[in-house]
Amino acid sequence: QQASVAATSPMGWNSWNHFAERVTDADVRAAADALVASGMRDAGYIYVNIDDTWEGKRDADGVIHTNEKFPDMKALADYVHSKGLKLGIYSSPGPKTCAGYEGSLGHEAQDAKTYAEWGIDYLKYDQCSFGDVIKQEAGDDLSKAAAMQREAYEKMHKAIQSTGRPMVYSYCQYGLYAVWKWAPEAGGNLWRTTGDISDNWDRMTLIGFSQAGLEKYAGPGHWNDPDMLEVGNGGMKKSEYEVHMSLWAMLAAPLLAGNDLSKMSDETREILMNKDAIAIDQDKLGKQGSRIWAEGPLEIWSKDLSGGKHAIALFNRGESALSFESAQQTLSQFKALRFRNVWTHAEARFDGKNITIPSHGVMLLKEY
Ligand code: DGJ
Repeated sequence: QQASVAATSPMGWNSWNHFAERVTDADVRAAADALVASGMRDAGYIYVNIDDTWEGKRDADGVIHTNEKFPDMKALADYVHSKGLKLGIYSSPGPKTCAGYEGSLGHEAQDAKTYAEWGIDYLKYDQCSFGDVIKQEAGDDLSKAAAMQREAYEKMHKAIQSTGRPMVYSYCQYGLYAVWKWAPEAGGNLWRTTGDISDNWDRMTLIGFSQAGLEKYAGPGHWNDPDMLEVGNGGMKKSEYEVHMSLWAMLAAPLLAGNDLSKMSDETREILMNKDAIAIDQDKLGKQGSRIWAEGPLEIWSKDLSGGKHAIALFNRGESALSFESAQQTLSQFKALRFRNVWTHAEARFDGKNITIPSHGVMLLKEY
């Protein structure tokens, strides 16, 4: 399974950040339509992921059914597939999901089989109430807690595998128990490294920049997941969403748009569909970028790309425009290389000239 899916970090859309508990079948179809109409599908955004709140009741045989918001999951999957897209779904290893709907505890094999019958291509498996199960059984015993966690996620991995249907398997357990150290072996194609993102500068940067050091755990088939994109949800300004997209690209992070795609502005579409940013994220070498220099609110990150190329990002997290003068030495190692500025499309080189970046801004460069 790991080899056959997520060779590069998954791209698509997820319902949670914008629609949360209100999401319906119609919203998901509209998202699929918009992925095609906007050109996002052809740019690589192929997963249409339903998050929490699709779940209904179990019948007498324990088989899970959808609730009234999703009248026919198989028909929805057929629709999504007919658009050249893939459908993702969501559950929890606990008795309940985070929103209090039915979880998969004790029904893992049955649920995986149901998903496969519906034609599901991606499962996000969200800790939620399984945290209470762990607390109850493991108490303060951290190694027992970690073992329970791994076992629960592995159980669903095996269940998916035995359906024979390839599915991307997304761990959502908020970075607990150093998940990156064992999730790849335990079947995870991606795993959340932090708590939830929200649509504001402080939270987005706190999560994004905290990924430094995790780069050794990511690679083809297995990715760190700093959570879904907030681009276009309205809480940040243009340069801040460019920082968001740039940072996620440097991190080889999943690019799961979290906005209402059917009401997207040109600005949002241009950020999400920037070809160079996507190419940096999706580079087939599968290397997550690293922080190579930092001073106060300024950071420089570098990412190795295939063919011996590089992407370099200069971030200003500060509240005023700031100069990268004292980074000249670090930057001089790239002075022979030719870059394109991902957001302005201008050619760029590190020729010793001083670089100043506006507040909450980024210069993202892709070598060519
Ligand atoms: C917590 C997760 O981290 C979110 O991404 C989302 O899936 C919600 N749960 C849904 O309840």
